[in-house]
Amino acid sequence: MDEYRIALIPGDGIGPEVIAPAVEVLAAAGKKFRRRFTFTMLEAGGAAIERYGLPLPEGTVEAAAECGALLLGAVGGPQWDNLPGSGRPERALLDLRKELGVFANLRPAVLRPQLRDVCPLKKELVQDGFDLLIVRELTGGLYFGDRGRGADGRSAFDMESYSAVEIERVLRAGYEAALRRRKKLTLVDKANVLETSRLWREVNGEVMGDYPGVAVDFLYVDNAAMQLVRAPGKFDVIVTSNLFGDILSDEASALTGSIGMLPSASLGAAPGASSGGQRFGIYEPIHGSAPDIAGKDMANPLGAILSAALMLRYSFGLEEEALAVEAAVTAVLEAGLRTADIARGSTKPAGTRKMGAAVAEALAG
Ligand code: IPM
Ligand code: MG
Repeated sequence: MDEYRIALIPGDGIGPEVIAPAVEVLAAAGKKFRRRFTFTMLEAGGAAIERYGLPLPEGTVEAAAECGALLLGAVGGPQWDNLPGSGRPERALLDLRKELGVFANLRPAVLRPQLRDVCPLKKELVQDGFDLLIVRELTGGLYFGDRGRGADGRSAFDMESYSAVEIERVLRAGYEAALRRRKKLTLVDKANVLETSRLWREVNGEVMGDYPGVAVDFLYVDNAAMQLVRAPGKFDVIVTSNLFGDILSDEASALTGSIGMLPSASLGAAPGASSGGQRFGIYEPIHGSAPDIAGKDMANPLGAILSAALMLRYSFGLEEEALAVEAAVTAVLEAGLRTADIARGSTKPAGTRKMGAAVAEALAG
């Protein structure tokens, strides 16, 4: 039996609660398809600060890199909000992304027919649903530029900087995704103001010729934010910088009914011939640690479970298994099960554990 090694970082807040059902679902998939998934538990974020005094303990990156993929819950919480930037839980996440080289963050946002009633948009705007993919640059830009304070501490700066190489590789990830989808790519930037955005457009001009089948258009980020709530169905693939992608992906997630539903995959360069076909990636639900509902068995585990499905697909090439997990999620929603974030009317919400167990059961068939 092939072995698939998975690093787990449950993290903080609802992180551990949503990772547990994701692992349960992976175990069910392993049993059904006769795959051996093995798990290496690692710590990062606030949990690591409490135990080791720093957000990313030494050796964590190396231990993760030895696995085929990393599944992460969430990091952060109010108790660590007053730490300096370099000691905050979020720093662990940024360092993991950077050091593991996962520059392309894929955030799909789909309006499922079963959840149409929780979409906050007027019915007529989403009659035909939407299915879009945000490809967010993840290891550059404002998140990783120089930052600091002026001598008197009363001025501050954060620098946005991109190299052509960084832009090109994430653009190509976007084009390749578009080729597998509806073959439309929207480059979102602020090229009317920012020099970095103008470089993005220049590099796009050099790259787009390699993908003649893909239709390209351009939107300024303010306009894109507006179009997302006016006509989300117009988008297929959106490619954008780190900060803009962070913001737009939260917006897009809210349109699907709940941020609790959305998975993400963060990928590095395509694997070489010697990798055995496995491509390292970090997989995380995009919802964050949600400290207000932590420990209450209220969180929606579907974002984490769907992240595990993306891991099967992108890191392990297990398409059939990924589809089976996604179908199990759909079956459970079809059956009417809802966590609190997606329950409406008289529906009694299911807890995190119940939802996870239902997906595992649906998968086992
Ligand atoms: C995300 C989160 C992170 C980000 C935070 C927690 C640092 O918002 O994954 O979208 O900004 O990238
Ligand atoms: Mg975010």
